[in-house]
Amino acid sequence: MMYKYNDVRINIVEGDITEMDVDVIVNAANNTLLGGGGVDGAIHRAGGPIILEQCKKIGGCPTGEARITTAGNMPSKYVIHTVGPIYSSENKNKEKLLYNAYYNSLELAKEYNLRTIAFPSISTGVYGYPKEEACEIATNAVLDFLDKEDGLDEVYFVLFSKKDYLIYEDELNSKLG
Ligand code: APR
Repeated sequence: MMYKYNDVRINIVEGDITEMDVDVIVNAANNTLLGGGGVDGAIHRAGGPIILEQCKKIGGCPTGEARITTAGNMPSKYVIHTVGPIYSSENKNKEKLLYNAYYNSLELAKEYNLRTIAFPSISTGVYGYPKEEACEIATNAVLDFLDKEDGLDEVYFVLFSKKDYLIYEDELNSKLG
């Protein structure tokens, strides 16, 4: 499904983010940046050891912030590693942290003059964030960024299941439909 907002194309796709041929894909990492399971594991496997080498030099990433590396063997040029909040964690500002993970990833993409970016559904796997709540925060962060900044041509939300795809389709239909 494709939408337009402030002349930027917003696409929802069901698939594997490591296969996206865009300027940058976003990784749902953890604070160590040393890899893990889920999309983090898939990105390191598909991109190759160069990504971990660069992550080790970066030395970690606070929750809600973003760091950039090469995408190695993947079709995209870069990976932006961001860390979403763990839903069950006691910190009350988990909504703001998830919003920041998306917003700071977009700011870093702009800093590198990247024009096409693909996001997974950050924090909704191992980190347990309810998908509908996370989707609302993710789309708010992206639309707020597109209200304030230019420089992007295309934003993809890459969902790993039909169920997740439909959550995003409902949300963007209600916001942009
Ligand atoms: N492409 C796109 N989306 C994917 C892929 C993939 N190849 N693999 C998994 N996903 C989806 C999951 O289905 C989920 O909806 O990414 C979303 C995020 O799930 P996780 O990867 O578990 O990420 P998160 O919930 O943010 O937890 C991060 O998990 O893998 C570890 O090292 C990571 O500690 C960190 C934690």
